[in-house]
Amino acid sequence: MILVLLFTVFVAASSADLATILKPCNRTSDINACLINNIEVAKSEIINGFPDLSIPPLNNLLITHSTVKIPNLDVDFWNFNITGLENFVIQSIDCDLNKEIIVIKIQFPYGKGVGSYKIKGHIFNLNLDSMGEINGNATNAILLFTMRTKVIEKGRDFYFRRVSQEVKLHLEHGVFYCYMDNLYPGNKILTEKMNEIINANSYYMYEVLVPFVENMFNDILSEAFDLLFEKFTYDQMFP
Ligand SMILES: *[C@@H]1O[C@H](CO)[C@@H](O)[C@H](O)[C@H]1NC(C)=O
Ligand SMILES: *[C@@H]1O[C@H](CO)[C@@H](O)[C@H](O)[C@H]1NC(C)=O
Ligand SMILES: *[C@@H]1O[C@H](CO)[C@@H](O)[C@H](O)[C@H]1NC(C)=O
Repeated sequence: MILVLLFTVFVAASSADLATILKPCNRTSDINACLINNIEVAKSEIINGFPDLSIPPLNNLLITHSTVKIPNLDVDFWNFNITGLENFVIQSIDCDLNKEIIVIKIQFPYGKGVGSYKIKGHIFNLNLDSMGEINGNATNAILLFTMRTKVIEKGRDFYFRRVSQEVKLHLEHGVFYCYMDNLYPGNKILTEKMNEIINANSYYMYEVLVPFVENMFNDILSEAFDLLFEKFTYDQMFP
């Protein structure tokens, strides 16, 4: 998502009302500082979503469906809303045009989610097979986005192309909590007990569930960058 934020600024150039916030980054200057500054200036627009890049509003992200599969455990989520992402803080941007790599570090001070889950399998010696509502929250999540690009020539212009990317989300002295209702179908006491076990091992549970959120960021970013790189040339972004 971060990168999305970043390049959104350039897109702003194409629409008159946002033209004032566009600032191409001179490739011989400090491009990292320039990109961070661009995001700060455009932050309120970014938070409200950029339809041109398929970036949804960040204050209420809806995940229609997602699946996490790990050995011995399948988890499905749907109609899942994440809130709080709008408070993101860009910690650093490291863009190397020669090595064709960009690394962005973003902090999310607090985020929470609510939606439906279906779980089947084994974890912490629990045998799970249920569905219901899941609630979760986390503090101080750090998103590390690493993308490699290449430059291609099309017509007489040069364009970026996405080659590969990686999204990693970890907690830095943060806390993760989740509650799944109906975890032991029809038995409230066992459901409470199971949730206690899950939260007593919340760091491990975080590791199990985090691919779900990482995949979400990955989807948003892939789509946004592909759209962005189609619309703007290398020289428009980095004159
Ligand atoms: C998710 O957000 C949408 C739109 O704000 C809302 O209609 C829906 O009820 C929310 N779903 C949950 C599970 O909170
Ligand atoms: C996370 O949710 C639980 C349950 O609703 C709540 O007790 C806890 O305070 C929340 N954590 C934070 C950091 O808000
Ligand atoms: C970029 O900065 C260099 C050095 O300050 C300057 O010579 C050049 O004209 C600038 N390029 C653009 C497109 O502004």
